[in-house]
Amino acid sequence: MVNKITVVGAGNVGATTAQRVAEKELASTVVMVDVVEGIPQGKGLDQWESAPIEGFDSRIVGTNGYDETAESDIVIITAGIARKPGMSRDDLLNTNAGIVKQVAEQIKKSSPNAILIIVSNPLDVMCYVAKQVSGFPRERVLGMAGVLDTARYRSFLAEALDVSVRDIQAMVLGGHGDTMVPLISYTSVSGIPITQLIARDTLDSIITRTRGGGGEIVKHLKTGSAYYAPSAGAVQMAEAIAFDQHRILPCAAWLTGEYGMKDLFLGVPCKLGRRGLERIIEVELTADERAALQKSADAVREPMKAVKL
Ligand code: APR
Repeated sequence: MVNKITVVGAGNVGATTAQRVAEKELASTVVMVDVVEGIPQGKGLDQWESAPIEGFDSRIVGTNGYDETAESDIVIITAGIARKPGMSRDDLLNTNAGIVKQVAEQIKKSSPNAILIIVSNPLDVMCYVAKQVSGFPRERVLGMAGVLDTARYRSFLAEALDVSVRDIQAMVLGGHGDTMVPLISYTSVSGIPITQLIARDTLDSIITRTRGGGGEIVKHLKTGSAYYAPSAGAVQMAEAIAFDQHRILPCAAWLTGEYGMKDLFLGVPCKLGRRGLERIIEVELTADERAALQKSADAVREPMKAVKL
């Protein structure tokens, strides 16, 4: 358990994240911050009132300012506007960049040693904004996308194979968008290579569905985007950090030469512990996978150039 985890944004992703963090008792204090007056206070109080029933001792507080967030160990940034039907993640670019910039400036002042987990979209570019504005080292700025994309891939595979989701190991790398790279060569069911268990065309359609996983939810919801699985992803990363688990999870991390690329955030296998990013693991890729990762990096660099800092 750490002392304090702040969740910025008390909307669908933020509030669900705060509740999960408290239920798992990852921190003694959970602070939820939002610009809308009353929302973080009301949701925070409602969540705290669930503590006697759920039986957690994490104290949740909601606020519109950053005083209560001081000296947070981990800050999960979910502030921003969510995707509407027909809107791509990149449409969100400059609105959310302005919001993430303002949040990162505040966190830099109030919690200079925090580890940042970014959830706001477009994810890889928002990580870049947070890193540039905070000036934090790459060990302390991570993006949540790969865990979510991999969870979607695993859930679709479990459904198709009629097996437990727990037995599916997989990794989706690259940017959080249509160019993400599910790694077939690292997909297995209790160690059995996936290609031995499923027809190639079924696997291909699952990969296509995974790539459009966020859009599929937006299409159903019409007025917002996914939040149960995204919040679960952010909390899994926070848990790995808070409990120093040394877990290997696909996260957006700042590359400094890994996979032959540098100066951008991209989803890669990361070892997470109490210091944040402990190591990026470079796995062997097929020529196709390497080309797909490069294409995904190109798709991330484009909006990076357009973003105003
Ligand atoms: N500081 C703090 N909170 C802010 C700020 C800000 N500067 N600007 C906006 N917010 C808050 C909004 O008031 C709102 O409560 O962020 C919250 C966003 O909540 P939702 O609209 O419910 O959006 P949500 O579904 O939670 O998605 C948030 O996560 O997955 C991504 O694409 C998604 O970028 C989006 C983000």
